[in-house]
Amino acid sequence: MPAIDQLAAAKRTNPLYTPEQATVIFVLGGPGAGKGTQCAKLVQDYGFKHLSAGDLLREEQDRPGSEFGDMIKSYIKEGTIVPMEVTIQLLENAMGAAIEKEGKKMFLIDGFPRKMDQALHFEKTVVPSKFTLFFDCPEDVMEERLINRGKTSGRADDNAESIKKRFKTFVETSMPVVDAFEKEGRVVKVMATRSPEEVYEDVKVGLKTKGIEVPTFKFVAN
Ligand code: ADP
Ligand code: C5P
Ligand code: MG
Repeated sequence: MPAIDQLAAAKRTNPLYTPEQATVIFVLGGPGAGKGTQCAKLVQDYGFKHLSAGDLLREEQDRPGSEFGDMIKSYIKEGTIVPMEVTIQLLENAMGAAIEKEGKKMFLIDGFPRKMDQALHFEKTVVPSKFTLFFDCPEDVMEERLINRGKTSGRADDNAESIKKRFKTFVETSMPVVDAFEKEGRVVKVMATRSPEEVYEDVKVGLKTKGIEVPTFKFVAN
């Protein structure tokens, strides 16, 4: 990718897609709330394309020759938010590929937007979101899940010190995004404390309130 200020998303002033070309649902919630777990279930039943901003950043961090690798690594370790131009460009690239190569139109954008500037810029330059699916989970539950995940995830930020920093960023920087969408009536909130299966039942009910139902045909994984 070129220098940050040269990225296409940084320069554009109109949305790249109409909501008909790309239906986007943002999936938010604190670290460990279960976003990835629920998105995997939604992919199976509804055929969404799941794009996790964190996964895309980790991939870019590990890509040989990436000029953003070191920067991303330090932001992730510190639990702070990577400059939006990079994350939005990665999302835009992944959406474009899914639309062109897989014919996808429905997207779950997981772990994004985590900061107000990301929300405003994405909706202005890529596509306005349909709504936000928000997983509400107390910190003690998320902490336990993350410590557990850390035993096998190999993630540099699933440790007590980084988790503390990520919670602080979530409260101070990411929750205001959810609050702003909520004020606009654009949030479907689901309690995330019960089992994955029980949470998923509530997710399906929530999606139905926005007119999204499980298709009658089965999606073939690709
Ligand atoms: P996020 O993507 O929001 O950070 P994950 O989906 O990776 O969260 O879940 C964090 C950890 O908690 C994972 O180890 C996952 O298996 C586990 N987990 C997810 N949902 C639940 C749940 N409802 N109850 C118990 N554990 C869960
Ligand atoms: O969502 P996930 O927990 O995988 O995100 C891991 C880290 O990636 C975050 O703590 C943050 O440092 C970075 N990130 C970001 N901007 C996003 C999503 C993730 O900077 N929108
Ligand atoms: Mg995740």
